[in-house]
Amino acid sequence: MSQEIRFDGKVAIVTGAGNGLGRAHALLLGARGAKVVVNDLGVTTAGLGTSSEAADAVVAEIKAMGGEAVADYHSVTEGEKIVATALAAFGTVDILINNAGILRDTSFHKMTEEQWDLIQDVHVKGAFRLTHAVWPIMRDKGYGRIVMTASGAGIFGNFGQCNYSTAKSGLIGFANSLAIEGAAKNIRVNTIAPIAASRMVIASGIFPEELHAKLKVEDVAPLVGWLCSEECQDTGGLFEVGGGFHAKYRWERSYGRFLHTDSLSPELVRENWERITRFDDKAVHHANGGEGFKELFERMAGNAIGGNQYVDMEV
Ligand code: NAI
Repeated sequence: MSQEIRFDGKVAIVTGAGNGLGRAHALLLGARGAKVVVNDLGVTTAGLGTSSEAADAVVAEIKAMGGEAVADYHSVTEGEKIVATALAAFGTVDILINNAGILRDTSFHKMTEEQWDLIQDVHVKGAFRLTHAVWPIMRDKGYGRIVMTASGAGIFGNFGQCNYSTAKSGLIGFANSLAIEGAAKNIRVNTIAPIAASRMVIASGIFPEELHAKLKVEDVAPLVGWLCSEECQDTGGLFEVGGGFHAKYRWERSYGRFLHTDSLSPELVRENWERITRFDDKAVHHANGGEGFKELFERMAGNAIGGNQYVDMEV
């Protein structure tokens, strides 16, 4: 067996760690030597009420294992206060897991602005406030591991979740830019799209009941632990994880087609629609935006027929 992945000497903040996925992440990190800030506002799945019980219980569990942890009861919308708790207790931050979340599901025609704003505030603004507060610390020390918690709804959309899917896809873009900005400072930023039968999922009835026992929250934490390890150099990745399944997502662009810009029209687009939208073995997967532009510009150079006119000879 290879060497155990440990977090001795590392300080981790896990938001929303009083229940579900966050609790499992905190327990894993705490069991492997990290000093953990267990943040939880103690709200219901719908984001109502507050309580210190959830965070306290997880801190007690980590301490019972011989680990180190402190509780924090702030909302992630006041993320800098959670970071202040970490600094006061442990002096630094090495790992940030932006996990806290709530749902306010309803079909778009019934959605209020309040339901929209609350979800953006908790998921996107919350992740921003925490990340913004840990960023200078991580830059200064030349080390950081950050995990964002997105969702399949953020990738594909979902009925009744316009607010939530907007927030979750926002986190993917946020992580991708942070990964680029943090690269030179050894700050790795990745995103997960988890699948687990937490209280949130059980309450929303998304998965068939018979699958609940197979989708344990504890099964998501090992991937998160790997992403938070010193050894893992991946950054800007989006990983699906749940029920023992582990996979990575990537963007795919069809090969597409250049059309003569002197005769561009909706009709010309219609005529070429099949080729524009066809995914075949010529489709490309760029690791980043720069690669995408490079490939495009090379094809432009190869296909130039004068001025800004291009023709794509390949079908
Ligand atoms: P959960 O409801 O079991 O746990 C969420 C925790 O976040 C709760 O303890 C809650 O008190 C806390 N929380 C909520 N608002 C907070 C705030 N403003 N500040 C601090 N803490 C707050 O739910 P679960 O499933 O563990 O969710 C964790 C994350 O995973 C969420 O971001 C959720 O959107 C995401 N997710 C979960 C999926 C799943 O299959 N369970 C699927 C996709 C995404």
